[in-house]
This record gives sequence, C-alpha cells and structure tokens, in this order.
Amino acid sequence: MAAHAVLVSGPGLGHINGCMPLAKSLLSTPSFSHITIVCFARSYHTHLTKGHLSNLSHPSVRLEIVPDELPLDTTTSYSQLFATTPAMHDNLVLLLKRFHEEHRPATCLISDMIMAWTQSVADEMGIPRVEYWTASATSYLCLVSIPHLMSKGFVCSHKGPEPLGWKTEKKIELDCIPGLPRFPLEEVPRELRYAESTKGPVVEKFVIAAHNAHRATCVLIHSAFHLEPHAFHGLSHIGITPYPIGPLLHQSLDATSPLDPTILTWLDSHATSSVIYVSFGSNSKLSEQELVELALGLEASRHPFLLVVREDATIEGRHLKELLPLDYFSRIDQQGLIVPWAPQCALLAHHAIGGFLSHCGWNSTMESLWMGVPILACPRAAEQPINCRLIVEDWGVGIELQTTQEGTFSKHDVNVGVTTLLVGEAGHLARRKAKEFSKKLREAPMEGGHSHSSLLNFASNILK
Ligand code: UDX
Repeated sequence: MAAHAVLVSGPGLGHINGCMPLAKSLLSTPSFSHITIVCFARSYHTHLTKGHLSNLSHPSVRLEIVPDELPLDTTTSYSQLFATTPAMHDNLVLLLKRFHEEHRPATCLISDMIMAWTQSVADEMGIPRVEYWTASATSYLCLVSIPHLMSKGFVCSHKGPEPLGWKTEKKIELDCIPGLPRFPLEEVPRELRYAESTKGPVVEKFVIAAHNAHRATCVLIHSAFHLEPHAFHGLSHIGITPYPIGPLLHQSLDATSPLDPTILTWLDSHATSSVIYVSFGSNSKLSEQELVELALGLEASRHPFLLVVREDATIEGRHLKELLPLDYFSRIDQQGLIVPWAPQCALLAHHAIGGFLSHCGWNSTMESLWMGVPILACPRAAEQPINCRLIVEDWGVGIELQTTQEGTFSKHDVNVGVTTLLVGEAGHLARRKAKEFSKKLREAPMEGGHSHSSLLNFASNILK
C-alpha cells in the first residue's frame, strides 16, 4: 500500500524551501501516495518565510500549520532555531492521531536534525523517524560528531575552561572524525564549541540532536554522493544510514519566479559571463564597514555587478544608502545594479552572470553549481567555511575572497577577488570546472542518476 509521509519543517528559509522539492520527489516514487508538510506557526509566519508554502499547488501535498506558542520573531540565531515548547510536541501528537482516525496514518515522520525532539513523538506513535538535512553531508557529519569532539576536549558545553584550541591561531587538524581524511578544527562552528560564546545552551542542544541522529532510522541529505564521498562513508562508518538524494533543484525550478523586467533588461545588455552577482543569502549580515568596502571594491573592479542588499543586511542596521556618498550611486549607474532581493535561480541561469560572490550557504552553492557559475567564496558563519573548502579545494569550482584573520575584507580584496574570478586564470579554470560540475550535478537526481536510485532505495526500505 502506498504510504503517507509527514514532513516536519525546521525553521528558516532553507528548511522551508526544502520541503516541497522533497515532497514532490517522494511522490515520484511508487512508495508514497500523499505527503503532509507540517510547519510550526512561528516558522510559518516570520516575514522571510511567509508565503513560501502557502501555494503548494500539488493535489497530493497538504500543509498543516501547527500552533507552537512561540513568540513571532524573525531572527534565527542558533538558540532560537532550537526553541521548542511542550505545545509543539503535544500538537504534533494530536495531528498524527487525527491522521490515524481519518484512516491515513503516517508511515514515517521526516524531520530536520534541529527538530531532534520529534524523535519522542515518533517513538510515542510507533513510527520511524527519518532526518532530512538540507545542507552538506560533511556538515552533518561534523554536527553528529559534537559529542565525540567534546570527549576529546575540543567542545565544551559549560562555562569553565576553554576547549582545546579555542584561542590558538595555529591550525589544528582533527583526525578524530571517522571517514574524513582531515578536518580543520576552525570549521567546527565556533558557536557550537563553547557555551560562553553564545547566549543560549546551544552546545547541549546539539549534543542531544547528535544522539537523536543515531536513534533516527536514517538521514536524507540534500547532496549528491559524488560531491562528498568521504563524508557519506564517514556517516556509514559511525552507524548512520545516509541517503544522498540531492540536489532536488529540478523539483523547484519550475516554481521559481521569473526575473523582473528591470533586472532582465539590465542583464540582457551585458556580455556572456561578464557580470558578478553578489548575495549573502537570507540571513547573513555584514558590518557597515564591510558593506561599504564591498560596494567600493565592486566599483573599483570596473566589472558589471548585480548586488543584493537586503533591508536587514548590516549588523548595525544602517542601509547602504545611508553609508555611501550620494555620488556613489550616480558613479556606478552604468556599471552596477543594486536590489533588495532577486529570484536567485533565474538570475544564475542568465548567460551574463560570470561569477557569484557568495556567503556559501548550501542552497546558494548548489544553485550556482547547477547553473555552472563559479563562486567567489566569502563564508561568514555556521557551516559555510566547510562549504567554502569543498568549493575551493575539493571541487575547484571557485576561489576564496582574501580576508584578514578576523574575517573581514577590504575594497582591495573585493577588487582583486572579482577581477580574478571574472577574467583571471584561476577564474577561467573554476568556470570550466563549474560547467563540468553542472552536468554531473543535474544528472544525479534524474532517472538513472545516483541520487535518484538512492531515493528509490530509501522509499522501498522505509516501508519494509
Ligand atoms: C542558511 C545558513 O546560513 C547556511 O549556512 C546554510 O547552508 C543554509 O541556511 P541562507 O542564508 O538561507 O543560509 O543561504 P542559502 O542556503 O544559500 O539559501 C538562500 C536561499 O535564498 C537560496 O535558495 C537563494 O536562491 C534564495 N535567495 C537569496 C533568493 O532567491 N534571492 C536573493 O536575493 C537571495
């Protein structure tokens, strides 16, 4: 009998955006006949995510907005990502009981690693829980290794002595994560290594999430096996069953909004691969100083640029218009276009885009490579340094923006990075590699591809 999967979305745009492609992919297998996407009220109603799930437009996918008694808040710091209330657990149980009474019981609960608490709901209902990780396998391996790193002294969950290597500038290579040839300690997100560096008890939450990752039946990862074979082997090695099922962009591109006429006309007026696209994703912030250096560096490069500056782009709060002299905007009139948001996939697909200066969020990384666009990597936080290493060292599809030890960059750094990516030898190589990558990446989730076979295996195994 074809089954009903209940997909519990995590908070944040990346998590919510990841639900629909997964739902469609599951429905394309013989195992699943209908999917319910569960979104908790706080995640659903924040301004960033609002509307993203309202138009599901698929007859076999339903949306349930579940009350959570959490205050509405648009910020997504780690501690808020983990915020849970007893109401979330109770309301999810009630929903699953209702499905049972309606003769469409949930066959499995699929939820994000950061919604690890759903394991107790799955246990209570006697159904398997599957994790869905919307980022890289390497970052998932890093997170489930937090308890192990803690036992070795590299992570400290309480106030007190600093963890090993906390202040040393010398690079420490970890060899304690099975399956990975080496792993720089600096890539373990700092906010997850020491309780004192965050406001909430985030380290403990990740320790619990890491334990529950082992209790889950398996994990679906929005990556492809050929991108990170070591990490997939590493996960299997520590007793986790990973299914690489991505990237699922073919399932979301048809729903992408088209480019608005201003952007389209502007892009159409530029030569192939001549424009640098610049965006720091949905929630990364720059300091005001960095935003100014970025804008001036782009101008200094003399290359055409399309810069996304969100309303909440800076840490301090002022917008670009308040930070730069008025004549900046008349100076760059012919050279640059600055917008508050743009449909990124449609933009990356335009022939004029020659490179992407990116914070290396996983979705941005996959979208850029799917479109064959090389990356100028400027990781900011979370697992972005891991993605940067994959982009630059493992795949050779990008170069890294030079930064100071504190992670900031100057106008000069931006100018050099953009020029190298667009017209330098290193950029030329990265562009060629990115084009090759695009072909292989698009094949993975299609029939006959590795991610497609992996999805079919998951779908049949979960019903056994
Ligand atoms: C967060 C985390 O910060 C990151 O580390 C993790 O890998 C994913 O979640 P986020 O800022 O959401 O990152 O970045 P990303 O994963 O790249 O997703 C941003 C999404 O917003 C992309 O799908 C992109 O297409 C979209 N976007 C962004 C737009 O459509 N238009 C824009 O102008 C900017």
